[in-house]
Amino acid sequence: MTTASAERFALRLHKVSKAFGGVQALNKVDFEVRAGEVHCLAGENGCGKSTLIKVVTGVHRPESADLIELFGQRIDRITPVQARELGVSVIWQDLALFPHMSVAENIAFDDLVGLRPKSVRYGEMTTRAGKVLERLGVRMELGAPLHSLPIAQRQVVAIARALMNDAKLIFMDEPTASLTQSETDRLLDIVRKLSAQGVAIVFVSHRLAEVLEIAERVTVVRDGNLVGVYPTEGMTQARLGELMTGHHIENDVSARDLPDAPVAFQARGLSRHGEFHDVDLTIKAGEVVGLTGLIGAGRTELAHVMMGMRRADSGDMQLNGAPYRPKSVRAAIEQGMAYVSEDRLSLGLLQKQSIADNTVISVLRKLTSVTGLISESRKADLVRHWIKELGVKIGAPEDPISTLSGGNQQKVVLAKWLATDPKLLILDSPTVGVDVGARAGIFRIVRQLADEGLAILLISDEVTEVMHNSDRILHMADGRIQQEYDPRTISVPQLEERIYA
Ligand SMILES: Nc1ncnc2c1ncn2[C@@H]1O[C@H](COP(=O)(O)OP(=O)(O)OP(=O)(O)O)[C@@H](O)[C@H]1O
Ligand SMILES: [Mg+2]
Repeated sequence: MTTASAERFALRLHKVSKAFGGVQALNKVDFEVRAGEVHCLAGENGCGKSTLIKVVTGVHRPESADLIELFGQRIDRITPVQARELGVSVIWQDLALFPHMSVAENIAFDDLVGLRPKSVRYGEMTTRAGKVLERLGVRMELGAPLHSLPIAQRQVVAIARALMNDAKLIFMDEPTASLTQSETDRLLDIVRKLSAQGVAIVFVSHRLAEVLEIAERVTVVRDGNLVGVYPTEGMTQARLGELMTGHHIENDVSARDLPDAPVAFQARGLSRHGEFHDVDLTIKAGEVVGLTGLIGAGRTELAHVMMGMRRADSGDMQLNGAPYRPKSVRAAIEQGMAYVSEDRLSLGLLQKQSIADNTVISVLRKLTSVTGLISESRKADLVRHWIKELGVKIGAPEDPISTLSGGNQQKVVLAKWLATDPKLLILDSPTVGVDVGARAGIFRIVRQLADEGLAILLISDEVTEVMHNSDRILHMADGRIQQEYDPRTISVPQLEERIYA
């Protein structure tokens, strides 16, 4: 059935519901996207954004839906194949590409399926792939194996593949989460181009500045319920944050002086060839030191040396006044170091194990060494404590961690490290993929921990995050600490200018 709405709407959903066990991921949600529109889907971690995408693309079947309509065509039971044939594509976080195939092969992948190797016309395929990239205004070596490309370019390949399939509605689920600022800007340019070419984009991101910049309208979902649909014109980040969380979010500079606090960590002349040089760093007990700069500035490498993952070539470190030269991560942890990184999949969590086990895994040794056996009740207490403190949204602690939404997984990583009762906590891009409400929650806890005397090194690309949550800010570039700033005497735009100059 084709209706008059055909020209106006790429997608219409009315009263769509989906539950997983006891969790109502979507509760009678309406969602409409106009043709050629950039529309953001916003809400806290676990509110149902990815689930909504999966319903539209036939990955999940909804329990009930009054209407699912794509390009004016009403659909009763949507399948992934049908969604694709109708021109719906998703750029998933993991991109679903083939690392050992070339750029051109990845773009033309769906054309290749079913063809025998001999019948693939490489010349033609490469030409078509090249045309699609041209449409995006991107130049790329078509024969390069995908694994040789940085993540930002792989993403472009995924988008090109969608266009190759004539996508007219593209969902992007947190496409900028692992991109640098300049890569993000380039992606937003591509999104604008697509929209100008009549492709509708549904964009999911926890970076609200970006949401307001790129979208015409934003649909806000809270706990699986529709909050409303708003034009971004005239909308502020603060207001959007309120709509997402249902309450006002404090976002002020929280810097304070700690003249009498003892030094918790100190590095002098720390260097590692090709990574960072002559780094002097002092963190007092109870102090939050922000470390910002561009990707590749050497910040994470520095953190890795502090955590005993690699050794410095020269210079020395002290922890609580004693020489500190960790031989391994285990040694670092035993001396009171903790490290939360954005890379939850490789460093943080055991995907198949339960939430409870993931939370207590770092303390297991501590608990077992005392009693010889981990007490179930102690384990349950710890898990309950941190899940409550961090507001992790879960079904049951026994559920596998993989059922949690991305942001909630990140909170479990934090919970896991906090349970080790550290002296110095390194937070390395801790809020990638974490929603505004949860970010505020995480930083409230960080602040509390600092007030109790924990020393914290906060590494982040997000200038606002560093501004609001640090006592002092260090700017690192080209492997060197360039300058120290007081968050109370510099503004976000001023600091951004120094970093991106
Ligand atoms: N396969 C699944 N099995 C069980 N529960 C699930 C499954 N997929 C999602 N959920 C639950 O449904 C809810 C919505 O999850 P969803 O992934 O849609 O959130 P989201 O809005 O995308 O969050 P995030 O911003 O963290 O990515 C969450 O409570 C999540 O734990
Ligand atoms: Mg999601």
